[in-house]
Amino acid sequence: MKKLEMLYEGKAKRVYKTDDAKMFIVDYKDDATAFNGLKKGQIAGKGVVNNTMANIIFKMLEEKGIPTHLVEQLSERETLVKAVKILPLEVIIRNVSAGSFSKRYGVEEGIVFKQPVLEFSYKNDDLGDPLINDDHILALELATEEQLSDVKKYAYAVNEALKEFFLERELKLIDFKIEFGLYDGKVILADEISPDTCRLWDVNTNEKMDKDRFRRDLGNVEETYQEVFNRVQK
Ligand code: C5P
Repeated sequence: MKKLEMLYEGKAKRVYKTDDAKMFIVDYKDDATAFNGLKKGQIAGKGVVNNTMANIIFKMLEEKGIPTHLVEQLSERETLVKAVKILPLEVIIRNVSAGSFSKRYGVEEGIVFKQPVLEFSYKNDDLGDPLINDDHILALELATEEQLSDVKKYAYAVNEALKEFFLERELKLIDFKIEFGLYDGKVILADEISPDTCRLWDVNTNEKMDKDRFRRDLGNVEETYQEVFNRVQK
């Protein structure tokens, strides 16, 4: 597979065309941003951690019947993926209050919800990724009714699989963001699942083991990514 010109550069990844029109190569960077790009930095080794971790998790999800874009890991930072057309939605599931939920609704972090909370944001940097609901998605024609129904079904299934996966590694899954794409007309899971996109708290100490260490200047950022990586590889 030949890596051709860069198609897109995101905050944490670059996407390249290949000589197969149905495949992309994703290259994970160490760059870190937060608050819609207002805070910028680097987390040494993050690209390797996120690439490998996303692949371990996507393989596990495939085994549970959730279709993903993963084809194969090519190197420490590169993965061959299906060339999806990303749906412009950030799909967030929350099991415990934290982050923007706590801020928006004025509640403390750490309240365990009786059932998962699903949220959508419209992926649009200029608008600051505003929160939207099902009717907005259909009105803006960001997805069809059938695609939206698949997105929700898969999102809840990902949550169940991830909760179990992380708990086996002594991590509580507080919340996470995923993205979906269309491939051969079907909805499949795309983008990444990593400490950049999940909130993970240590089951024993409640220590934050994710990007909040960078966002909130909590220190030990690199060490924490490596620790999560070690646990995920077990
Ligand atoms: O900031 P907020 O509380 O809405 O984030 C919810 C979850 O979604 C967190 O796990 C966060 O890491 C993830 N997220 C993300 N990318 C964004 C916004 C949120 O990965 N642009």
